[in-house]
Amino acid sequence: MEKKKLYIKTMGCQMNVYDSQKMADILAPLGYTTVDTPEGADFIILNTCHIREKATEKVFSDLGRLRRHKENSDKKVLLAVAGCVAQAEGELITKRAKYVDMVFGPQVYHKLPEMVLQATNNERVINTDFPAESKFDSLPLETTGEGYSGFVAIQEGCDKFCTYCVVPYTRGSEFSRPYKQIVDEAKALVDGGVKDITLLGQNVNAYNNEISFAELLSKINDIEGLERIRYVTSHPMDVTEDQINAHGTLSKLMPYLHLPIQSGSNKVLELMNRKHTAEAYLESIEKFRKARPDIAISSDFIVGFSGETEQDHQDTLELIKKVGYTACYSFKYSPRPGTPGAAMKGVVAEDIKERRLQELQALLTQQQTDFNKNFIGQTVEVLLDRKGSKTGQIMGKSPYMQSVYVEADESLLGQTVNVKIKRASQNSLSGIVA
Ligand code: SAH
Ligand code: SF4
Ligand code: F3S
Repeated sequence: MEKKKLYIKTMGCQMNVYDSQKMADILAPLGYTTVDTPEGADFIILNTCHIREKATEKVFSDLGRLRRHKENSDKKVLLAVAGCVAQAEGELITKRAKYVDMVFGPQVYHKLPEMVLQATNNERVINTDFPAESKFDSLPLETTGEGYSGFVAIQEGCDKFCTYCVVPYTRGSEFSRPYKQIVDEAKALVDGGVKDITLLGQNVNAYNNEISFAELLSKINDIEGLERIRYVTSHPMDVTEDQINAHGTLSKLMPYLHLPIQSGSNKVLELMNRKHTAEAYLESIEKFRKARPDIAISSDFIVGFSGETEQDHQDTLELIKKVGYTACYSFKYSPRPGTPGAAMKGVVAEDIKERRLQELQALLTQQQTDFNKNFIGQTVEVLLDRKGSKTGQIMGKSPYMQSVYVEADESLLGQTVNVKIKRASQNSLSGIVA
């Protein structure tokens, strides 16, 4: 078979990282091997994210750069736009970028072999369907990916319709994969050397297909050779007692929980259609801490949502102080076309959004730095899974999702070792193998 080079640029969330890997896996039998740069590639895929503003503009500027690789090559180079921008703005892309060969959304990439054939025959491919059949049924179990950490998508899509968010439109409605398929995929990863699996879903804890999310966690926990389990992202509405208790009983489930609240104001939460209150959220956190006292909690925040007053902003800061987060993502509200939020009154001025974001991030940075500094002198278990950026340095994750750097030999990669922490900063720890 003719050897071909595949370059995928991935933006957005971990689901996109997973999807990119799966695209590479599907294309491998057609002779494609993944390369790190677009130079000399036969097939270029932009796997895009639509979550915040300028997403579409970024795609067009990336395309402008990538088209040169296509036009300057003497062989046929296929250029594709995949992911959430493709889903949302497929028509615009095909109109504005005539040189793009393929535009397809997140639910149809299992059709890549036929889509590639079409494009190779100079037939333009535009596919933003939500097909009745599930792509998961035709994805290969085996992966071409390497490393000690891996992702398994267990659930996809969203029926929550938070008023600011595009995901229900780009990913479609909530769908849970059959659990046997998930367990098989996880086992295949472990057979390939993976020791740390993160279960993925836009509403991961809404998982339900014959068995519940907690039951699935327990089945994954039983996989021999697997050492660590995490999952992202949980929705507060979908938290169950069983999910909470799993953190007290499952030995491989890491003491880490990403539970986004977005705002600490009940009024704003209602405007956002989050369907829960700050009090209910705090109650859940308390229960998680009862089940697993050392659990590290993280969240996402949106500042400056339309209607947010100074008091609402203060309520968010208060909530952050009450919870004590270990790491968070925070964003200025970005109105997205077609979402209910974009039409709401009480738009917050840009400079106020900016100031509120800075206040919020200052507090979160403080909490994260304090959390990390507390580890100085302690010993933590680190699964060393990657080389560091400096020579002689390797790195991995603590149970609490901190990045930990150690000066050690590469032969330790893949092992879980005790690291005595010597230094800590906002974003990482470093130490020596104990
Ligand atoms: N429930 C999802 C959230 C996906 S979006 C999940 O499982 O990951 C990730 C984060 O982006 C959200 O939690 C929210 O904080 C932020 N976000 C989404 N839409 C946004 C918007 N219009 N403006 C700013 N931030 C947004
Ligand atoms: Fe978006 Fe809300 Fe669904 Fe998360 S739960 S994907 S924020 S609509
Ligand atoms: Fe972005 Fe789509 Fe993920 S919009 S955050 S890539 S689900």
